[in-house]
Amino acid sequence: MLIKIKRGWELDEREVTPEEVYLNRRAFLRKLGWTGLGVAGLQAGWLASALGLQNKKKSGVWQTIPKPRPPYPVPRNTRYTVERPLTPEDIAASYNNFYEFTMEKERVWQLAQQFETHPWRVEIRGEVHKPMTLDIDTLLKQMPLEERIYRHRCVEAWSMVVPWSGFAFKKLMDMVQPTSKAKYVRMVSFLRPSQAPGQKQRHYPWPYFEGLTLAEAANELTFLATGIYGHALPTQHGAPIRLVTPWKYGFKSIKSIVLIEFTRTQPRTFWSDLVPDEYDFWANVNPKVPHPRWSQATERDIGTGKRIPTRMFNGYEAYVAHLYRG
Ligand code: MTE
Repeated sequence: MLIKIKRGWELDEREVTPEEVYLNRRAFLRKLGWTGLGVAGLQAGWLASALGLQNKKKSGVWQTIPKPRPPYPVPRNTRYTVERPLTPEDIAASYNNFYEFTMEKERVWQLAQQFETHPWRVEIRGEVHKPMTLDIDTLLKQMPLEERIYRHRCVEAWSMVVPWSGFAFKKLMDMVQPTSKAKYVRMVSFLRPSQAPGQKQRHYPWPYFEGLTLAEAANELTFLATGIYGHALPTQHGAPIRLVTPWKYGFKSIKSIVLIEFTRTQPRTFWSDLVPDEYDFWANVNPKVPHPRWSQATERDIGTGKRIPTRMFNGYEAYVAHLYRG
């Protein structure tokens, strides 16, 4: 039997969410009248979970979630909070994009369990006065850890609301001190095909790589997450350290980072290299600009199952719009 321990960040309304989710999905299925099984964009896994076929699977997800041990939980920074209910943790932890393991979102958590995230070292190099390679535990001791609740919007038009633990990217910049020539930051994920079956597929240019401008990296929202829901990141969310840029589509939020390089020129990025007509370097959430194959006007909250309007910069306009004026 699953015993759920209530933690500091849990809101009362979260406690009713699973039932709401269930009811919403049932209502949705009734509306479909069982005739719309081919509806474009409907995820097979989501349908299965609406049917209750995944209860068994869900109990397995909880076993992949780390126990809260020091330094977690960390103090919440109430400046970053969201009006929508938090996504139930088991839903967020069993619906992931992490192509190094599989393209099937609902199986990532299973395939990622064999991935070893300790020991882990992160190299910081390039246009910085103090290049360094740090063990993840040392890095965690040096950074002021906090918890922030952010919206997270995938380019595929699903979204969630989760409490990340970690530190502002700017704190890392203060530590390594970028030179005056640094204009961009390039980040790279691990390369370990022996533990990541998706990396055996050679049509992807592994390892995953992403980038930001220096101003974007220094923005107060840009966060390096090492935890989620009051404990360390489970592997499926990008353990032991991943980027979070909540005003951008989720593919910018590179997982399991091993290299952070400050550069003079704009770095290439994984998805814009692969499919330049569909994904660009900026990837700012914009409901008015459709993806070439679907609308970005609305999104499906994976916690509630509800479709809601997408907001400019994912609701973070006040923090970031100035970066893109002109
Ligand atoms: N990082 C790596 N290394 N590999 C990936 O496939 N997928 C991206 C991003 N970071 C991805 C990645 C995409 S498309 C999204 S939407 C988010 O991770 C998903 O994060 P989540 O699974 O924690 O919700």
